[in-house]
This record gives sequence, structure tokens and C-alpha cells, in this order.
Amino acid sequence: MREEELDRAATILRCGGLVAIPTETVYGLGANALDARAVARVYEVKGRPAESPLIVHVCSVEMARGLARVWPEGAGALAARFWPGPLTMVVPKREVIPDIVTAGLDTVGLRLPAHAVMVELIRRAGVPVAAPSANRFTGLSPTTADHVRAAFGDALDMILDGGPCEVGIESTVVSLAGAEPVLLRPGIVTREDLEAVLGRQVRVAGKVEGAHPSPGMHERHYSPRTPVFLVRDGRLPPGRGAYLWMRTSARAEYEQRMPSDAASYARGLYGALHAADARNLDWIAVEPPPETDEWAGVSDRLRRASCAG
Ligand code: TXA
Ligand code: MG
Repeated sequence: MREEELDRAATILRCGGLVAIPTETVYGLGANALDARAVARVYEVKGRPAESPLIVHVCSVEMARGLARVWPEGAGALAARFWPGPLTMVVPKREVIPDIVTAGLDTVGLRLPAHAVMVELIRRAGVPVAAPSANRFTGLSPTTADHVRAAFGDALDMILDGGPCEVGIESTVVSLAGAEPVLLRPGIVTREDLEAVLGRQVRVAGKVEGAHPSPGMHERHYSPRTPVFLVRDGRLPPGRGAYLWMRTSARAEYEQRMPSDAASYARGLYGALHAADARNLDWIAVEPPPETDEWAGVSDRLRRASCAG
């Protein structure tokens, strides 16, 4: 990445523009988190309903603490262990963050990403950056700059290309704003990882209704256009048409071999779905992964992408 590109992106953010930015999880659609009008454009361009709060990205723990009204017990330990990295912590927010960022909630999701481009950009802009995944609402998240271009064309002020995302699925979201920690969205940082650091149980959120779901909690989120079916026991339904079968033991031409470890699978998942989606298939079959804690993030995204979602 060239210096001038980062400076131009920082200027665009400070002036209220939108920049697609690489992170280690997925590409984000970034705006100055302290500028309500810039954030309104994020919702508009994405086609995202106003009741879905955005994650605010920071370049340091100090910046995060400056945005939190309370720094809950456990936040320091989680930040020390998982930041920079794919963990978002929901904490009580300060008034400096406009209501539109948090969909009117008095909490804010904060994340210090592990990607040099995003962190350096925030540092140069000098403001925290609100960024949902850089896809249209309900679409698949982007893990390359080309995915972002395909979704938005010229609708953004700038797209920074930082190469393919290393983690590949969105951050784990944990709320520390209530009496007990709650896992709002599973990811590569697992519930057991969180419990080990916090030294206490983390409850898994049930389906959230009403005004403050994790956006990940809308049904049929993260979907390709092509219908996705989870196929158990290796039994494909009859009347197949053209399809691709994503499984760990793939052999045939219409099958795609997927990695058998969760981290590699997550890294390749959206790329594989984007590619399958571009082939005009009738459907995509996916073998469901093991039902263990380390696969929870991948399983969650597959379930939401699928018709069973
Ligand atoms: O990995 C990621 O988290 C990516 C990259 C760009 O950082 N961002 C991302 O943003 O996935 P988005 O908007 O697609 O998902 C944000 C998630 C949603 O599930 C949302 O509900 C949750 O974070 N969230 C944000 N603020 C919240 C809050 N105050 N209370 C509860 N959930 C919140
Ligand atoms: Mg998203």
C-alpha cells in the first residue's frame, strides 16, 4: 500500500466519505464514526435497516476506552489477549458516538483489528471508524477487494486493496454490557476462548427479536444468490440440476474440496461461495461441519447462508 493512498483515504474519512478497508476478518465499509451524516451514507449505500448497529474500529486500547462510558470487568483482559484481532466487545457508549452508529442503543461494539492498513488508516484519520462488512445488506461478506468492487462498483469514494482476508469470517461479538457476558455472534475466537480468559461462563444469545439484533441475527444473512443446502450423511436430494458440492472429502469434478480444519475452512469459505455464485448453478450443496465449539463460527455462517437458515 502506498503512503499517498493511505493519506488520501484518511482525508476522505475526515471529510465524511466512504472507504472500503481491508481487515483480517472481512472487508469493511468505513466512515468516520463521529460523523452522523457519513454513517447515514453507510446505511444508505448498503441498504441496511437502521436498527442494525455498526462496529466501531479503533487503533488502540486507549481510543477504545475513550469511547466507552464504562470499561467493564473483563474488557481489559479480553483486549490484552485478543486485540488486535477478530473480537468485538459491546460496552456502554459515550455520548460522543452518534445514536445512528449504534441504532439508538446506549452500547457500542468496539474492535481493534489485526490489519496494518486498517490500523494505520485510523491512526492517520485520527478518528474511530464505523464499518460494517462491505457487502449489500443480506449479501455475502467480501474477503477480497474484487468482491467489494463487484458489490458496489463506483458507489464508494475509495477501495483500499489489502489482499485476501486472513481470517475470512466476521469477528466474534461478545457483550460485556450486562450482568453476564453474552456471545452475540460466534467466530474464530470461540466461546471457550472467552471463558478461559474471563474465568466465567459466557451465555450464548438466543434469537434476538426487535430493535437490537446482531445484524448476523437476521435470517438469511450472508447469502449468495444461488440457493445453498446443507446436506447431511452424504445424501443428495433427487432432481439435482447443476450444482457444486462443498465437502472435505471431495473427489469428483462437481465437488469442491474444503479444508478439514476450522481456521482454513473459514479463510476460504466466502471466496468459495462467491466463486460458486458466479457460476450460475442451480444450487450449492454443503456438508455441515462438526458441531464443536471451534466450528461454531463456520457453522453459523453456513446455516445463515442456507435455505434452512
Ligand atoms: O469482522 C467484523 O466484525 C467486520 C469487520 C469489517 O470488522 N464487521 C462486521 O460488521 O461484520 P457487521 O456490521 O456486518 O456486523 C456487526 C455485528 C452485528 O452482529 C451487530 O449486531 C453487532 O456487531 N453489534 C454492533 N454493535 C452492537 C451493539 N451495540 N449491541 C449488540 N450488537 C452489536
Ligand atoms: Mg455483515
